[in-house]
Amino acid sequence: MLFDQPIIGRLIVPNLPASVRARSDTELANIIRNGLRPDGRSVFVMPSEAFNYLNDADRGRIIAFLHSLPATPGPGPGGFLGPLGPLGIVIGQFKMAAQLIAETVPVPQAASPDAVTGRYIAQSVCAHCHGTNLGGQTTPAFVSPDQHIVAAYSAEAFTRLMRTGVPLGGQKLGMLREESRMNLPLLTDAEIASLYSYLHTLPDAQPPR
Ligand code: HEC
Repeated sequence: MLFDQPIIGRLIVPNLPASVRARSDTELANIIRNGLRPDGRSVFVMPSEAFNYLNDADRGRIIAFLHSLPATPGPGPGGFLGPLGPLGIVIGQFKMAAQLIAETVPVPQAASPDAVTGRYIAQSVCAHCHGTNLGGQTTPAFVSPDQHIVAAYSAEAFTRLMRTGVPLGGQKLGMLREESRMNLPLLTDAEIASLYSYLHTLPDAQPPR
């Protein structure tokens, strides 16, 4: 259960081994990449707008891994929208993944070959909280800064931020610190170096053509 407020709604994140058994690989790829369920409804909260950038090989590896998981008991799909949920969607406060994908403006190309992997990671990992244009996001749960902030970081300071969640000023961060404990340790030193190459000299996002 991720969220439960009678007036807004309830969000249950389904049991992955069970969901994967109930769907074809094409359906899974469409949920991950396009945020679309088999009945055409968009997923919500799941950051498909970032996973949209996963290449076919990585997405295939994730699906293969999920198939290898043993069945575990746990909640199935469920949830509902309370009276204010649809209102939040209508006024654009909560956005469906498919809508976020439709609004995405591609981030600038990598300026050098060593920044190519960094761009891929920025889009598929960091954009989930920093916005698809990496320009930062204000949500009901958190505020994340524009990634141009990395221009102020040396490579060493950026590595420390990714590895420990401690920023330049040394103050305690909240969500990024959690992220540096849970998911960012999976990044290799080479991936962090490439991420730094990309973000340290990030050009301004181009307006849509
Ligand atoms: C789970 C959400 C989440 C993810 C994923 C995430 N961030 Fe953040 N990040 C935040 C939030 C929220 C902040 C604002 C400070 C805080 O509350 O921790 C932040 C702050 C930052 C800052 C500013 C630090 C400062 O100097 O104040 C940088 C730089 C940053 N993130 C880089 C990244 C990079 C690079 C990635 C991808 C590898 C990433 N973040 C992934 C949520 C996230």
